[in-house]
Amino acid sequence: MAKPRIVVIVGSNRRESLNRKLAHALAKLGADKFDATFVRIDDLPMFNQDNEGKLPPEVVRYKDELSRADGVLIVTPEHDRSIPAVLKNAVDWGARPYGKNSWAGKTMFITGTSPGAIGSALAQQHLRSVMTGLGATLLGGEAYVTFKPELVDAQGNIPDESTRKFLQGFIDRFANLAERLAPTKERSVAA
Ligand SMILES: Cc1cc2nc3c(=O)[nH]c(=O)nc-3n(C[C@H](O)[C@H](O)[C@H](O)COP(=O)(O)O)c2cc1C
Repeated sequence: MAKPRIVVIVGSNRRESLNRKLAHALAKLGADKFDATFVRIDDLPMFNQDNEGKLPPEVVRYKDELSRADGVLIVTPEHDRSIPAVLKNAVDWGARPYGKNSWAGKTMFITGTSPGAIGSALAQQHLRSVMTGLGATLLGGEAYVTFKPELVDAQGNIPDESTRKFLQGFIDRFANLAERLAPTKERSVAA
């Protein structure tokens, strides 16, 4: 049976993004359980409802990538106690136009990191609230990660055993949920 297809969204447009490093490490933790594809959001134009009639090509590409995903992993920083504007823009394009909500029914794991003590907790909570409203199926639990320079090593691994095990648990449960909730055509052979 094919592995679930997971789209990874990093809520940062910063070149040296800490969250991108964490996202790659998480994709590595799940490499034997799902196929991960990183999706760009930094090239999406600013959302404007005037453009919903004829979607910009970047938005068409982005929504097409979302439509093919069995699950979405969002790894987000916290900006001013919420999600960064670049991510909110991507959320809004995903939700629109009316009737073409890309998030509805998507299995989703939300996590993120920040050098602060609460590790992007408030941004994650805001995003959970938004995604619940948009109909995503959220993985339970809370994965707040305080960033330290040694969190992800040069090979893209998480060396600290307790942090790695903590995150591996989320990745395993996310992969399992995405597989179980994947469209039935993917599983019809086993049925
Ligand atoms: C505009 C702005 C607002 C920020 N607000 C917060 C915040 O509310 N909480 C927090 O923990 N860190 C905050 N930070 C620090 C970020 O956690 C830090 O810049 C981090 O590197 C962002 O993640 P990234 O490297 O993946 O972009 C803020 C940074 C910026 C630029």
